[in-house]
Amino acid sequence: MKVSIIQFAPVFGDVTKTLDKLSPLLDQASGSDLIVLPELANSGYNFKGSDQAFELSEIPEASVFIERLHRFCKTSDCHVVTGFNERSGDNIYNSSFLINQSGITGSYRKLHLFNNEKNYFTPGDRAPEIYSINGVKVGMLICFDWIFPEIWRALAIKGADVVCHPSNLVIPGKAQKATPVHAMVNRYFVITANRIGTEGDLTFTGNSLIAGPDGEVISSGTTSGEEILSAGIDVSRARDKMVTPKNDVLKDRRPEFYQAGSGL
Ligand code: ACM
Repeated sequence: MKVSIIQFAPVFGDVTKTLDKLSPLLDQASGSDLIVLPELANSGYNFKGSDQAFELSEIPEASVFIERLHRFCKTSDCHVVTGFNERSGDNIYNSSFLINQSGITGSYRKLHLFNNEKNYFTPGDRAPEIYSINGVKVGMLICFDWIFPEIWRALAIKGADVVCHPSNLVIPGKAQKATPVHAMVNRYFVITANRIGTEGDLTFTGNSLIAGPDGEVISSGTTSGEEILSAGIDVSRARDKMVTPKNDVLKDRRPEFYQAGSGL
């Protein structure tokens, strides 16, 4: 399976200009089975307030951004995961969508909101699910979810081979250390697609990465370059959970002791 990340900077509040930027990058990444874009790729991140965050949200079914990605998936026989400022009634969610030739086939609403996101977004209201891409089991998490190992383990237990992780990371180096470790301890692949650029007082840290089941970083980006990172991944490696002939990282768990009195 060939996977790619498009590390770029959306144009804040201008979905048309963002698509002008993104379209040639999508064309360059075509030939991939799966392309992952950063968090909130349709709107940008650093909103002035909740009114602006709402104004820049889109209803997925009426979104020019989703429509363009859907068209790309149809012509390139590809899957795309993208972060998306999603409007649903009076609420907005920091979401991720999986798009294929038929349109949106999977979604996730960020469970753990970061800092000022709590002023704008409604927290995710459902557990992350696993979706199939030609038999490969794919889960989605978003950015600050990186600091909650429970949710990464939950996806492993649900059978994820690959976790797509659209991000707008602002704290240098921390998530980029953690997500290869999540890959290692769960023995799956992680695709952290971070953005670059500055919006107001926030600078995004790039260094997108693809990590494998031994915790190895297969491909990594620079801190500020617009880049496409690609890798061929052998998904069968994520189905082997053995770390020694006698240790299976999922079957050796002792959840009865984690749960007792812990609130887990
Ligand atoms: C983040 O969750 N965007 C840091």
